[in-house]
Amino acid sequence: MSQSNANDLTWYRIGPVSDIPPLGSRVVQHQGVRIAIFRAHGDAIFAVRDQCPHKEGPLSQGIVHGQRVTCPLHGWVIELASGEAVKPDVGCTPRYPTRVDDEGVISLGVPALPPELTPADDVVHDLADDA
Ligand code: FES
Repeated sequence: MSQSNANDLTWYRIGPVSDIPPLGSRVVQHQGVRIAIFRAHGDAIFAVRDQCPHKEGPLSQGIVHGQRVTCPLHGWVIELASGEAVKPDVGCTPRYPTRVDDEGVISLGVPALPPELTPADDVVHDLADDA
């Protein structure tokens, strides 16, 4: 993995799309924030904070369908493109921009000044290791 800065975001190369199972996810960590990267229907790639807007359920462990994920705790459905809960539920989890290059490698954009966050202990890869 490597990083670059642009538009007040730091971009990290995460790895190939093929590293994430279809309709699956992978979790990375940035300064204590767990970020779930999803491979949704049609190989669309999305990234949201791995925290349901309801009661902080781990969205990375949810069921991906279409371009949404159903939270494993109480079944809220989250739009991966926006992080918004699907009505009638109301709430939003932060989303992060992603891009996929011509070789199928995912990059993840994170804010230059991340918010205060809590540490996670079951993370696949900590982006700080790339700094
Ligand atoms: S924590 Fe996700 S639906 Fe309750």
